Amino acid sequence: MHMLQKVLFRFMLLFLSALAVSACQTVAPERAETALVSQPTPPNLVQGVCGDCHGVEPPFLSPNPSAPSFADIANRQGMSEESLTSWLIEAHNYPELMDFELSESEAGEVARYLISLQSEDYEKAP
Ligand code: HEC
Repeated sequence: MHMLQKVLFRFMLLFLSALAVSACQTVAPERAETALVSQPTPPNLVQGVCGDCHGVEPPFLSPNPSAPSFADIANRQGMSEESLTSWLIEAHNYPELMDFELSESEAGEVARYLISLQSEDYEKAP
């Protein structure tokens, strides 16, 4: 019994010092945390149809090197959910390789996912 109390007490001390440490880091971790939390998983459609060529989820390595990763596309200047949606509906704009058609709601879903990959401090992977 005595032993157990000792162990518990040590544990409490550890816990408290961990709290104290995290309380001191007021500013820095915020960015890192949002980056982790805001990383949504791609819709099935994206993984199934687009993932053959594009890197559609972290770490965004495209299986087909001539297909830009979704993070690269999303972070191009002026990219918006609206412009992407209409681009995706107009299948005749596609590169020759991309041989499929999306319904309006599918295009919207894909565009929403793509845009969710935008980040202010995005840096293109080498
Ligand atoms: C068979 C391979 C292939 C598949 C599957 C594919 N893509 Fe692509 N995609 C490409 C290639 C290659 C390019 C780059 C073409 C270029 O730069 O000329 C591209 C470019 C793009 C672009 C950028 C167009 C631009 O303005 O440069 C978007 C957006 C895109 N793909 C979305 C998608 C979406 C969404 C899917 C799934 C629904 C998809 N792609 C599936 C090969 C593919």
